[in-house]
Amino acid sequence: MVEFTLPKNSQIRVGKTWPKPEGATNLRKFKIYRWDPDTGENPRLDTYFVDLDRCGPMVLDALIKIKSEIDPTLSFRRSCREGICGSCAMNIDGGNHLACIYGMDEVDGDVNIYPLPHMPVVKDLIPDLTHFYAQHASVKPYLITETPTPNKEWRQSIEDRKKLDGLYECILCACCSTACPSYWWNGDKYLGPATLLAAYRWIIDSRDEATPERLDDLEDPFKLYRCHTIMNCTNTCPKGLNPAKAIAEIKHLLVDRIV
Ligand code: SF4
Ligand code: SF4
Ligand code: FES
Repeated sequence: MVEFTLPKNSQIRVGKTWPKPEGATNLRKFKIYRWDPDTGENPRLDTYFVDLDRCGPMVLDALIKIKSEIDPTLSFRRSCREGICGSCAMNIDGGNHLACIYGMDEVDGDVNIYPLPHMPVVKDLIPDLTHFYAQHASVKPYLITETPTPNKEWRQSIEDRKKLDGLYECILCACCSTACPSYWWNGDKYLGPATLLAAYRWIIDSRDEATPERLDDLEDPFKLYRCHTIMNCTNTCPKGLNPAKAIAEIKHLLVDRIV
């Protein structure tokens, strides 16, 4: 398992321990990062106990139960509950995961939950992804063409379509980028694995007609070449994708056009 450091504002203090639910015999302890922008106080770790006999199996089930029945001020993002929207990405037991598809049985002992590492925090488990999304937008993640739009559709062979497998499935959860040490230290200029995977997805799309411009844009000491093939990104991706390989493929394309 990949271990990560704490979020940016990390002078963490011991917070409140909430009472155990009455009559429960199958308890699980949760230690959860809390930070409130309204008070601006240092973040704290609050302790909660969840009755597993009255809770679903996933970490998100426990968070929803805590918010519904114990502490309504606990803040986190979630939407689909089936690993599709990417909004429930957080750091659980030292690794980045989607809370809705990460089972409590995969954690030994207490369940420690933090926001995604090294990102500004909006509140509690909610990271500020504004810069992450702006980087994604910067690689123009859409089809660019010069030839006139066909009447029906842009055609693609089965072989060319297959090249997009392992790329189009990215849900932009940011688990990979926030697991990448190069992104931690140079995230202002280094695009990071999620955005580079998206860039590669459009570079190799046979229908796209802006490949030279896309490669020109990545030929930069920071945007691309801060990747040092540490592989945290690939080891972390909850969708089983391989951003490190996509980054290596972009580097090969850049070398190929020089020689
Ligand atoms: S392989 Fe590159 S992008 Fe992935 S974690 Fe390592 S440095 Fe970051
Ligand atoms: S590559 Fe994987 S970890 Fe990274 S944003 Fe996409 S789905 Fe999430
Ligand atoms: S709630 Fe959508 S991925 Fe977890």
